[in-house]
Amino acid sequence: SSDLVQMWAKYMNRHFTKEDIYVAKKHMKTILVTGALGQIGSELVMHLRKTYGGSNVIASDVVKKDMPEVLESGPFEQLNVLEPQKVADVCKKHKVDTVIHLAALLSAVAERDPQMAFNINIHGLYNMLEIARENKYRLFVPSSIAAFGPGTPQDKTPQDTVQRPTSMYGVTKVTGELLSNYYFYRFGVDTRSVRFPGLISWKTLPGGGTTDYAVDIFYSAVKGEEFVCPLKPDTFMDMMYMPDALKAMTDIMEADPDKLVHRNSFNVTSMSFSPEIIYEAIKKHYPDFKIRYELDENVQHIADSWPNKLDDSCARNEWGWQPHFDLEKMTVDMIENLKRKLKVGL
Ligand code: SER
Repeated sequence: SSDLVQMWAKYMNRHFTKEDIYVAKKHMKTILVTGALGQIGSELVMHLRKTYGGSNVIASDVVKKDMPEVLESGPFEQLNVLEPQKVADVCKKHKVDTVIHLAALLSAVAERDPQMAFNINIHGLYNMLEIARENKYRLFVPSSIAAFGPGTPQDKTPQDTVQRPTSMYGVTKVTGELLSNYYFYRFGVDTRSVRFPGLISWKTLPGGGTTDYAVDIFYSAVKGEEFVCPLKPDTFMDMMYMPDALKAMTDIMEADPDKLVHRNSFNVTSMSFSPEIIYEAIKKHYPDFKIRYELDENVQHIADSWPNKLDDSCARNEWGWQPHFDLEKMTVDMIENLKRKLKVGL
């Protein structure tokens, strides 16, 4: 399969200038994050600011929310990714060299309003690709397990395989992968990305994803409430704890470009579980915790079309991907942090 990628590169007539290669080998310096107040963005901005300096990480989002940690630790710009001129002006003002484009709708909401999802996820993406091309910025656009579909092998899903998703969200993710690779081979834009599994975190809630249950279940447990699960007990999906996701993003963006055979996007995973399994893991800490299954057919349908467990050996081999958290470790950390956040059971 890596032969396939190399063959493609050859057919795409890549002709990089010395300058392209020089840019790709430098470290990131000034980074714009779109969707910075979302589940990933709010943690990524703080993570990046620790390494690259507060003023070198520009947080942006379409609305300004009350999130003092992000708003007060460095620049914030209210930006709509559907207004490319304004985005480009902000990038120039701050002398950006890297864009991490997180602004997008998640799978379940996208399925409720596919037209809006197309608009934000595709037009937003296109605007960022063009800005990156015009200014030679490095670009990260996350893909997802949603980029696979019913025809994909569900277990040990290979890096290079069938990608015929049936959800609008999945269609926008495959488009993101293809366009990002196209911009790399055709224009020398340094695009890199990973296919994220469900991301679990305690700081900021995800909004409208199929994997959200794996976050919500912790809130119910810590609050002492019964958890109403929208998925069947044996629905397996890949998952990852946020600290590993942050590491994946910085590692891929700082990886030696000479070692990358693939680009957009790499399979990455930390764990694969079902509602039944995560329930049992949490129950070890809360023996009275109860779960009730109340199927939401829309999310079940999306979840059924996604893989059970990815093979992420290409990420491991090409840029040293290695997760730190497994289900047990994550469960302990989530519970500790949520107790503190919600001020219960301390
Ligand atoms: N967590 C995302 C979702 O469920 C998958 O990319 O939509």
